[in-house]
Amino acid sequence: MEARSPRGADDILPEEVELWRRVEETVADVMRTYGYREIRTPVFEYTELFQRGVGETTDVVEKQMYTFSDLGGRSLTLRPEGTAPVVRAFLQHKLYGRGLPQNLWYIQPMFRYERPQAGRSRQFHQFGAESLGSLDPLCDVEVISIPLEVYRRLGISGCELLLNSIGCPSCRPRYREELRRFLAGRLEALCPTCRSRYERNPLRVLDCKVDGCRAATEGAPSTLDFLCDECRSHFASVRRLLEVTGIEYRLDSRLVRGLDYYTKTVFEIVTRALGAQDALAGGGRYDGLAEELGGPPTPAVGFGAGMERAVLALKSLAGSAEGDGGVDVYVASVGQSGRETAVALAQKLRAAGFSARLDYREPASGERSLRAQLKAAGKSGARLVVIAGEEELSRGAVTLKSMDDGAQVEVAVERLLAEVEAKLGGERPRTARPVV
Ligand code: HAM
Repeated sequence: MEARSPRGADDILPEEVELWRRVEETVADVMRTYGYREIRTPVFEYTELFQRGVGETTDVVEKQMYTFSDLGGRSLTLRPEGTAPVVRAFLQHKLYGRGLPQNLWYIQPMFRYERPQAGRSRQFHQFGAESLGSLDPLCDVEVISIPLEVYRRLGISGCELLLNSIGCPSCRPRYREELRRFLAGRLEALCPTCRSRYERNPLRVLDCKVDGCRAATEGAPSTLDFLCDECRSHFASVRRLLEVTGIEYRLDSRLVRGLDYYTKTVFEIVTRALGAQDALAGGGRYDGLAEELGGPPTPAVGFGAGMERAVLALKSLAGSAEGDGGVDVYVASVGQSGRETAVALAQKLRAAGFSARLDYREPASGERSLRAQLKAAGKSGARLVVIAGEEELSRGAVTLKSMDDGAQVEVAVERLLAEVEAKLGGERPRTARPVV
């Protein structure tokens, strides 16, 4: 016998483990500052989960799954991606009964039968997060900002955020028809795979990497021109909140993602540091997946990020290390300008290493009363509550409440970070500032 690991399944040798640890610890720490909790799911699942969840016509399900029968004759599949298993666990254990959204994260091995090359293997690892149960565009923005914050802390610079919205089951059919009409005259120029995609899943033609297909889809209609009112307003809010948070992005109408469950927002984070396999992370909304898997309607959004690719980027762009720790601040707000200030302040606090939580607003029920927000703050165990209310904001200030003794002070917005530092600094181990 030959003493070799199977093709595409790599060992991680001791000198590499140090880099892996650094990424893992950074991920765990960033997740903590966002208030996400870790979940671990089995390495294999019933095959139907991925067929239904990821979609029968996707490359992952059609060509890449490691599927086998166990001795009891059940068809099982090694997990090719993390979202369907997390949603399955959310439904199986009725996590929706524990308050929404449930914000969960993971670092787990995944398995796809692909042609191995630098940054692409058959056993690979993803860190990811899934926010289950809220339609608030703020969840989209948090899910986008988590991997960006991980890369920032690791010193992986030169990341670019690509953003698109692919609509929902009520507006996508019209777009699909329009795209088919556009492609009909160009079928000859498409690769054989895309010719079959034209019938079954025309959106996928847009992200084919074959040169001929790219040229043929130049000038294709954009999903953004076909969004229904709800999807359009959701996307506008996501963009607005990204701007408030100071996150730059590029709209990319070709970005459709390779898995079928996506609705509305989709995104990828790419970097030039990686060469051909340039996607560090990808994700988006999947508002229909829980129902598809037999559960209650549950809007959700998440991302998955390649660990190997983060480690490769780290190697090619010498980065800076950082530590661990944690402190909580709850940021409550009143009105639209209060909320925008709250989002910006939470981002600032997190960047400084404090854990911060915001109040999520559901489009259907709108803003919660300040009283309800303060109750949620109490339940969250926050030490401090920031209240961005309209009255104080008109004076350029917010209210800072200490949950230990209930004392309240008004603080100028630009002084808030210093005030939080004065109140909480040094009491608990906190994230070390990145050295960059
Ligand atoms: P995905 O785009 O298929 O999304 O994978 C996410 C990331 O995993 C990619 O951007 C890449 O960094 C890494 N990756 C994928 N395949 C390989 C491979 N063969 N070798 C090494 N790295 C790889 C998903 O898996 C979705 N579940 C993400 C998500 C979560 N969407 C919503 N929630």
